[in-house]
Order: sequence, then structure tokens, then C-alpha cells
Amino acid sequence: MHLEDFTLEFLMPHLHWSLLVTTLSFSSLVAGDAISPAQFHRTDFDSTCSSIASQLSLPNATVFFSELVTQETNLTFPERDPSCVAPTISPEFLVVPADVCRISLAVQTSDRSGINMEAWLPRNWTGRFLSTGNGGIGGCIQYADMAYTSALGFATVGANNGHNGTSGRFFLNNSDVLEDYVYRSIHTGVVVGKEITKAFYGSEHTKSYYLGCSTGGRQGFKSIQDFPEDFDGVVAGAPATQANNVVDSYSHLFNITGTPDAPTFVPQETWLNIIHPDLMKQCDGIDKVEDGVIEDPHLCHYDPSGIVCSGSGDNSSCITAEQADTVRKIFSPFFIGDEFIYSGLAPASETAEPLVLSLAGDVATFSTEWFRYVVNSDPNLDAKTLGESDWKKCLALDPFNFSTFKGDISAFKNRGGKVLSFHGQADGLVSPNNSEIYYNHVSNTMGLADSQMDDFYRLFRISGMLHCALGPGPWNVGQGLFGDTLPGSDYLDPDRNVLMATVKWVEEGIAPDTILGTKFVNDTNNLGVEVSRKHCRFPLRNTYDGFGDSTKPESWSCQPVSDL
Ligand SMILES: *[C@@H]1O[C@H](CO)[C@@H](O)[C@H](O)[C@H]1NC(C)=O
Ligand SMILES: *[C@@H]1O[C@H](CO)[C@@H](O)[C@H](O)[C@H]1NC(C)=O
Ligand SMILES: *[C@@H]1O[C@H](CO)[C@@H](O)[C@H](O)[C@H]1NC(C)=O
Ligand SMILES: *[C@@H]1O[C@H](CO)[C@@H](O)[C@H](O)[C@H]1NC(C)=O
Ligand SMILES: *[C@@H]1O[C@H](CO)[C@@H](O)[C@H](O)[C@H]1NC(C)=O
Ligand SMILES: *[C@@H]1O[C@H](CO)[C@@H](O)[C@H](O)[C@H]1NC(C)=O
Ligand SMILES: *[C@@H]1O[C@H](CO)[C@@H](O)[C@H](O)[C@H]1NC(C)=O
Ligand SMILES: *[C@@H]1O[C@H](CO)[C@@H](O)[C@H](O)[C@H]1NC(C)=O
Ligand SMILES: *[C@@H]1O[C@H](CO)[C@@H](O)[C@H](O)[C@H]1NC(C)=O
Ligand SMILES: *[C@@H]1O[C@H](CO)[C@@H](O)[C@H](O)[C@H]1NC(C)=O
Repeated sequence: MHLEDFTLEFLMPHLHWSLLVTTLSFSSLVAGDAISPAQFHRTDFDSTCSSIASQLSLPNATVFFSELVTQETNLTFPERDPSCVAPTISPEFLVVPADVCRISLAVQTSDRSGINMEAWLPRNWTGRFLSTGNGGIGGCIQYADMAYTSALGFATVGANNGHNGTSGRFFLNNSDVLEDYVYRSIHTGVVVGKEITKAFYGSEHTKSYYLGCSTGGRQGFKSIQDFPEDFDGVVAGAPATQANNVVDSYSHLFNITGTPDAPTFVPQETWLNIIHPDLMKQCDGIDKVEDGVIEDPHLCHYDPSGIVCSGSGDNSSCITAEQADTVRKIFSPFFIGDEFIYSGLAPASETAEPLVLSLAGDVATFSTEWFRYVVNSDPNLDAKTLGESDWKKCLALDPFNFSTFKGDISAFKNRGGKVLSFHGQADGLVSPNNSEIYYNHVSNTMGLADSQMDDFYRLFRISGMLHCALGPGPWNVGQGLFGDTLPGSDYLDPDRNVLMATVKWVEEGIAPDTILGTKFVNDTNNLGVEVSRKHCRFPLRNTYDGFGDSTKPESWSCQPVSDL
């Protein structure tokens, strides 16, 4: 699994994928502590699974099939849109880690729209319900997450977001399909999924959860904002809140770099070989440990002037003044007039992100599709021509409150809901600052101090993590995707697993103070621990003690930022 594949998947999903084996290996499956699985164990699981399809009576729904999928089954998804195939979220094939009853159905959401969804109901049910999310423009069921969470004992649903595949073309002249994408697909899947769960097991679920990243993170916050009853616990990774601003930011980035033939353009190898090492020289040691991980990107104010070529001739280790200007702009906040639109690129994310954002010399897919099919209703629009007036138009349009930026989430708080958000500090696709902006917005709107926010909303800043997963630091926090194969049985340990930490918070009232992240010697097979670090919740900053083994969690502690 290459990092580029992952980031490209978000932005340029039309690219073809090399085959990748996603094997979710669960060496010892332990169901949740709080509730005995036996309590929910159906002795007639197999026969219920074969008969349930014909017995379900759900409004506006058509059930296609229900089938027993036994542990170790090598599942393929021939009916899925080919553009959905991605090694992480929806792999070519999947070896199912635990017995499930798989149900497939469609639900009408209007006379011209509907969702396709699946429910994976585990034999070893913990009584918990969970919805997975989506990614990018994605009209794709995230099978990898469904396999992961159903194996953890959650009755799991996943939906196609109201359209098939990774193109936005179905939004064109059909606001109902767009409405499904913005919020209705997840909500419908949850309402119907809870009914299916009850019909299948013969009892209601105990608690309801959500797991998603990127667009999935945005969907999690959308549910909290507008459907506070849907979930008791939400895991929202790298949420693309202020979504219209995110869309604008990719177009703006192209505006800075131009095409590969422009003097402003900075090629990928220059980012990797010249700029990144220079940036790390300036910023890696700020946290007192030179390990390729910048603990707090706010402290890095990179200045590329030291690598500007002094004369003509060999330019293999320097950049032009114009390129330096591009670099400065990319790391600076994006304004339209006086209005702050989006954060500067997070330092150290340049190893991955310029690759997709600017080094390709084109506008990222997410933005291109949105301008073509939503903002301008013009399939032939050349996204390279977009500028300020288009960006403003995009912000103003905000269909169905796509922005997902409601500051008052008291309904969720008041019913005891908990949200665990996390964000890679080297995320170049959705700025980690975005998560802080939303956290502060909620805190200001609701008039809550950080200690009061802690009661129901905790944001963990995951240093060394790129977009949703992977990266040079201790990025694996049990977030699903392919970050779901922690070796041994301790992958369920709430101290190191964002989903199980949320379960513990909801069901036992014990909130996570830190999340233990792991960097493996080999991140493809998750073997051999290279670094473990306890990531802190915002606004605390992870701080090295100055003498201990920096690869061990004991050598770090969470400190208030003002004390430093
Ligand atoms: C699963 O099936 C695919 C093709 O359908 C095959 O390429 C792959 O090797 C199989 N994997 C396993 C682990 O059996
Ligand atoms: C999406 O694909 C499914 C098959 O997987 C099909 O049943 C459904 O009609 C498709 N939906 C749309 C909106 O094309
Ligand atoms: C179900 O869970 C029990 C322990 O709770 C375990 O022994 C068993 O192997 C699991 N069965 C399946 C099919 O996953
Ligand atoms: C069924 O779909 C229609 C729109 O097609 C909607 O008005 C109605 O509320 C839906 N019924 C339920 C129970 O969701
Ligand atoms: C979409 O609607 C616009 C006018 O609102 C029309 O010009 C265009 O032809 C329509 N496109 C399609 C594909 O229906
Ligand atoms: C960026 O925007 C400015 C102002 O609209 C425009 O003059 C310039 O051509 C754009 N550059 C690129 C590369 O699109
Ligand atoms: C260095 O110069 C060559 C030839 O002029 C050019 O193709 C290349 O893009 C330049 N590299 C950088 C980093 O500017
Ligand atoms: C982070 O967001 C704040 C607004 O809350 C903004 O002032 C600041 O410039 C942003 N940081 C970067 C690096 O863009
Ligand atoms: C968007 O949110 C605002 C404020 O919460 C609300 O007044 C408005 O009705 C929403 N619009 C849509 C289309 O949902
Ligand atoms: C990492 O693990 C993968 C999968 O087991 C393997 O194919 C690859 O060779 C390993 N890489 C290294 C450097 O050992």
C-alpha cells in the first residue's frame, strides 16, 4: 500500500488501482466488555439469515438478498461501480474476518433518488449498531470498514451516498441526489439499518455508533448537527467541515502553482528532494526530537529563502525565486479580500500532498467535479479557468448546508452523545487546522471552556499522520480503512483504538485522555512496532521530556500550550 495510492484515491479516484490484498487478520476476536455477546447470540442465526430478506417490511425499500458470509470467505463485489475499487476503503476482494449475515437493499429517498445500502450483521453481536461513512465525492460502500466493525461485533450498515462511483455527474440537475450526498444517505441508512437490526436479532440495539474519515468525518459532524438522535458515539476523522472552503482550496492551490510548464510550478521531485529536507531542517527539531515528525505544525514557520538559487547553472539543489514564492503562498492562509477562506498547507504534508494537488499541474478531482456538476452545472467546464468569483459562488451556494459548520450542537451534547475527532497533523488534503477551527467555533458558540468541551467533544491531534491514515509517525489508532490490523489481540484496547475508546466513553463514562498511536516497522503488514506515542487532546500539546527514549510514550506528556 503506497501512500500515494491513498491520497490519490480521495482526489483522483478515476485512476486505476493495482490489486491489493486486504486481509483483516483478527488473531483473537474478543467482543466488547460491557455486554456479554452470548446475550445476543441467536441460535437460529443461519436460518434467520436465509429468511430475513423475505420477512423484512421496510418503507420505500427493496431488499435484494440476504446471505450468510462465513469467516475467511474471500468476498468480491462484482456489482459495484468499477471506480469504487480502491485498496483501502473498497478493495478488489476482502477476506471476511468474522461470520456475518449480509443484507443488500435499496431505499428510495424521493421520486428521483435513492440509496443502495448493505447491513452486515455479526453472529457475535454485542448489541451495538454502527454506520460507516464515505470518502471524497464517493458513491461507494466502504467494505473494508464494514468488515472491520462487524468483526468487532457491531451490527454495521454502509450506504452508497446516493450515487454509484466517484464521479459527481449524478448531481447535475438533480438536487435530490445532491441532498442524499450532503446528509440524507447516512441518515436514511441509519433509520433503516436500526429497523433491520431489530428485525434480525429480535431486540433493539443498545447503543449506536459512527465511524468515518474525510468526507466521512464531515458526515459524522453533519449527523451530530442535524440528527442528534442518530448516534450515541461518533468517531469523526479528518472531517472536511467548511466543505465549500475545502473545495475552493484545491482550486486556489492550482491557481498558485499553474500548469507544469509555468515558472511558478514546483515539480514533485523538488518538493521531495529539496524543499522537504530544508523544511525538516528548520522544523523537525522544534519538538526536541528529530524523527521526521512535527508534533505541532503551528510552531513551524517555514522560510524557503535559504534554498533559492544564487546564480545560473546547476539548479539540482535549489529553487527559483518564483518557485520560492509558490512555496510561501502554499504554506500561507488563503484569503479572498479580508476573508479567511482556508489554512495554509500543514508543514511536512508536502511529501504526499503536492503530488496530487499541485504537482500534477491540475485541479484536484473533488474540486473539479464539484464546480462542474454542482456550482456551474457545466460538465465541460475547464476547472483550470476558475478564479475568485467562482470561489465566492461556491461558498454562497452551500447546498443543503454542505458546509457542515453549525456551532450549536447542544442537542447532541444534552442527550449524552460523545464525539471523538482525530486529525493527522501532516494532513495535506484537509488541513488539521480545520478541526481546530470547528472545535473553537463550537466552543465559542456554546460558550464552553475546554474542560466543558471535554465532557462530550474531544479532538486528538495525531502527529505524523497524513490524511486519515499512514505517515511517518505513530498514525495507527484503529481508525479502520486499512488501519485495522493491529497485531495481536490488543487492537481492541480502548487506549489505542479510537472506536473502542468511544464505546468505553459512551457506555462506561470513561473518556480517553490520550490515544496511543503506533508506527510499524512495516505499515503494510502492521508488524513490528517502531514508535508508540500517546497523542494529546486539543488544545494540549505533546511535549518531550528531553531525555527519555523518544519512541516510547513515557517520554512524552500533554502540556497546556500557554505554559510552553
Ligand atoms: C480472493 O479472490 C481473488 C479473485 O477473486 C484472488 O485474486 C485472491 O487471490 C483471493 N485471495 C485469497 C486470500 O484467497
Ligand atoms: C447503483 O448500483 C446498484 C448495483 O450495485 C444498482 O442497483 C443501483 O440501481 C445503482 N444506483 C444508481 C443510482 O445508479
Ligand atoms: C464469537 O466470540 C467468541 C468469544 O466471545 C469466540 O470464541 C468465537 O470464536 C467467536 N465466533 C466467531 C464465529 O467469530
Ligand atoms: C418514502 O419516500 C417518500 C418519497 O419518495 C417520502 O416522502 C416518505 O417520507 C418515505 N417514507 C418513509 C417512511 O420514509
Ligand atoms: C441541466 O439544466 C440546465 C439548465 O438548468 C440545462 O441547460 C442543461 O441542459 C441540463 N443538463 C442536463 C444534462 O440535463
Ligand atoms: C490565478 O488567478 C489570477 C486572478 O484571477 C489570474 O490572473 C491567474 O491567471 C490565475 N492563475 C492560474 C494559474 O490559474
Ligand atoms: C532546472 O533547470 C532545468 C533546465 O533549465 C529545468 O528543466 C528544471 O525544471 C529546473 N529545475 C528546477 C528545480 O527548477
Ligand atoms: C489556522 O486557523 C486560524 C483561524 O482560526 C487562522 O488564523 C490561522 O492562520 C490558520 N493557520 C494556518 C497555518 O493557516
Ligand atoms: C441551513 O442551516 C440554517 C441554519 O441552521 C437553516 O436555517 C437552513 O434552513 C438550512 N438550510 C437547508 C437547506 O438545510
Ligand atoms: C512489508 O510487508 C509486505 C506485506 O507482508 C511485504 O510484501 C513487504 O515486502 C514488506 N516490506 C518490507 C520492506 O519488508
